Amino acid sequence: MITQRSYAVEPWTVRETELNLDVLAQSESVFALSNGHVGWRGNLDEGEPHGLPGSYLNGVHEVHPLPYAEAGYGYPESGQTVINVTNGKVLRLLVDDEPFDLRYGKLVGHERTLDLRRGVLERTCEWTSPTGSTVRVRSTRLVSLTQRAVAAVAYEVEPVGNRARVVIQSELVANEQLPGSNGDPRAAMALQSPLEPEEDFASDRRLRLVHRTRRSGLRVAVAADHVVTGPERTTTTSESNPDVARLTVTSVLEPGQRLRVEKLVAHGWSGARSLPAMSDQVDAALAAAAHDGWQGLVDEQQAYLDDFWSRADVEVDGDEEIQQAVRFALFHVLQAGARAEQRAIPAKGLTGSGYDGHAFWDTEMFVLPVLTYTAPGSVAEALRWRYNTLDSARERAAQLGLEGAAFPWRTIAGSEGSAYWPAGTAAFHVNADIANAVVRYVAATGDTDFERDTGVELLVETARLWRSLGHHDHHGTFHIDGVTGPDEYSAVADDNTYTNLMARENLLAAADVVERHPRQAERLGVDDEESAAWRDAAEAMHIPYNRELGVHEQHAGFTRYQRWDFANTRPDQYPLLLNFPYFDLYRKQVVKQADLVLAMYTCDGYFDDEQTARNFAYYEPLTVRDSSLSACCQAVIAAQAGHLRLAYDYAAEAALMDLADLEHNTRDGLHIASLAGTWMALVAGFGGMRRHDDGLSFAPRLPEKIRRLAFTVRFLDRRLRVEVHADKATYALLDGAPLTIRHHGEPLTVSTDEPAVRAVPPAKPRPAPEQPPHRAPSRR
Ligand code: BGC
Repeated sequence: MITQRSYAVEPWTVRETELNLDVLAQSESVFALSNGHVGWRGNLDEGEPHGLPGSYLNGVHEVHPLPYAEAGYGYPESGQTVINVTNGKVLRLLVDDEPFDLRYGKLVGHERTLDLRRGVLERTCEWTSPTGSTVRVRSTRLVSLTQRAVAAVAYEVEPVGNRARVVIQSELVANEQLPGSNGDPRAAMALQSPLEPEEDFASDRRLRLVHRTRRSGLRVAVAADHVVTGPERTTTTSESNPDVARLTVTSVLEPGQRLRVEKLVAHGWSGARSLPAMSDQVDAALAAAAHDGWQGLVDEQQAYLDDFWSRADVEVDGDEEIQQAVRFALFHVLQAGARAEQRAIPAKGLTGSGYDGHAFWDTEMFVLPVLTYTAPGSVAEALRWRYNTLDSARERAAQLGLEGAAFPWRTIAGSEGSAYWPAGTAAFHVNADIANAVVRYVAATGDTDFERDTGVELLVETARLWRSLGHHDHHGTFHIDGVTGPDEYSAVADDNTYTNLMARENLLAAADVVERHPRQAERLGVDDEESAAWRDAAEAMHIPYNRELGVHEQHAGFTRYQRWDFANTRPDQYPLLLNFPYFDLYRKQVVKQADLVLAMYTCDGYFDDEQTARNFAYYEPLTVRDSSLSACCQAVIAAQAGHLRLAYDYAAEAALMDLADLEHNTRDGLHIASLAGTWMALVAGFGGMRRHDDGLSFAPRLPEKIRRLAFTVRFLDRRLRVEVHADKATYALLDGAPLTIRHHGEPLTVSTDEPAVRAVPPAKPRPAPEQPPHRAPSRR
């Protein structure tokens, strides 16, 4: 775990000035570079020491049998796990016979900087070998946001004091040895040697390796090209064997002389393309990268990010750590989705192998909301991935005896990968989450082509699922029984409020969309009777409420359960899932993560402010936040209920989840949903942003320590900038036609002519809610 501050607090960079080998795996996640297609963990250039070597290609996975001690009908039989593909980032260095290895000799200076504006990871270090030769090493690394197959490293070495003989070995390495599993079910299963060699090639400065996964049959090709600059008599040789391709550069450097290697790496994979086609594909990607050269890639990266930040930046005055954290968060959320292009956005992005590289509902409910308002093109792509997996979702529904499509709880390629059905298959809400993301994206962009070509079918098939999963009782009330909501400490329960409210919106959205697209509806066989049945179910949806307590129930009967014995639960017994049986968690009032509280954000039209505050006060003392998906949701509702101080504490928890390694598992990869939640806590929490049928509304209010919060969102081809101070909010339309929004309920039309300024009304004072003992967020 990262205990003391590991990174300098700076607005646009994450900088480490000391190398701590104990937290190497964490920093590899923090310094990971990705474009959503290729992911490189922040491993040291020389490959070792490492915490977890990681190079990933989105979608490349291996399949493995899912064994059950007691099998049951409909259990998924085959699981998928992300694999570490051929590593193109390795540059080993030999200085006067000594390998440059930071475990030996003396590290005189070390600095690594993740530059959020330029999208590069820079490293400088000065090292004295055990035999006394000193060198200065500089490297800059990027994973290109503009050329999705490409990553690159510029590596430079220079002797200090005396001349040195240096050898740089630039490599492609397949089947790297991985450290063993640490026993945490949330980490990945490590597959040793997952790649079978098919071709290796080295000639002049070009290298290439092609492999194939054993069972999933995916072909992976990685190629590299180099530009070498050094003194006269610098020599190069290259060679390859099935798992390693290597360019060796040798030179004798006088003080003041430098040896520089620019390495361009291209990646490709396919389940269908032939070996020659894959070799050609990566060679072509490499040719394109070489055409621009190292500097060209750096410039393009900068231009891409300039554009992103002009649409997406969040400014926070008064808390420098949160300022840094929200930019770090936005950067990683962008990296996770930017070029995913019809592939999943995994819970860890491409920063580590945690959760086996699976994507969950995290994508639609945490990541896509941020991208919808900052980089909407990537949202359409992520939802097209779901669309492309519809056949497997339809098959799954049929297998379960249901209609429409049942999307998987966790997956890489589209089939259900959860072997634990109470918190897997039974978490049907993922289907409504996907529908919600479709509706949100179309409302924010007006992309009717997407709605027609992709959205209609997703909405219809998920509505069909709900209609068949639920039933009308003899009073006509519609129930969805035996499902698991977001809170994984309750399972297979009746009428989960979050699920029912989200399913209701799903059913209504499907009924509306088929009216707008009658030809699509006809193609899908939807008739008036079917869409009327969706509306009936939606209107009759049961939402459990305890009148005596005046609160909504997380699911029917929840408030009657015995409370968890919080007083006798020790701090070291959290997370509860690692210390208590699910059997006991399921039958008590204890909440792993925001569930009803999330519903009050996503379906806010259903709850007025008073009800929201009452529900929040009831669920706070039960919520233990054993999932990183919780704090951000609690921040949003705490802010709405006027508990600004508490909201601030939660926002900080979401924001620092990985920079401070709060859950002690950043080593397995970043918590992309919690990073996205940082934006959510600030924009939806303190900015009070919500989306309704008639557009965006804001109800901004700042906690005492934040003096100013400013953010830009993209909405219907416009950029709207919102700036909040303690007493007033300013809305400025940066481009596009006038837009009507709401400020604390009051309609307001903003145009590019002049910003609109409105006063911020004070929050209604309410008693501060309590958290379970030991589970209050850290006070900021
Ligand atoms: C949470 C899920 C989440 C998953 C992946 C679990 O701990 O309970 O809601 O989807 O992690 O982030």
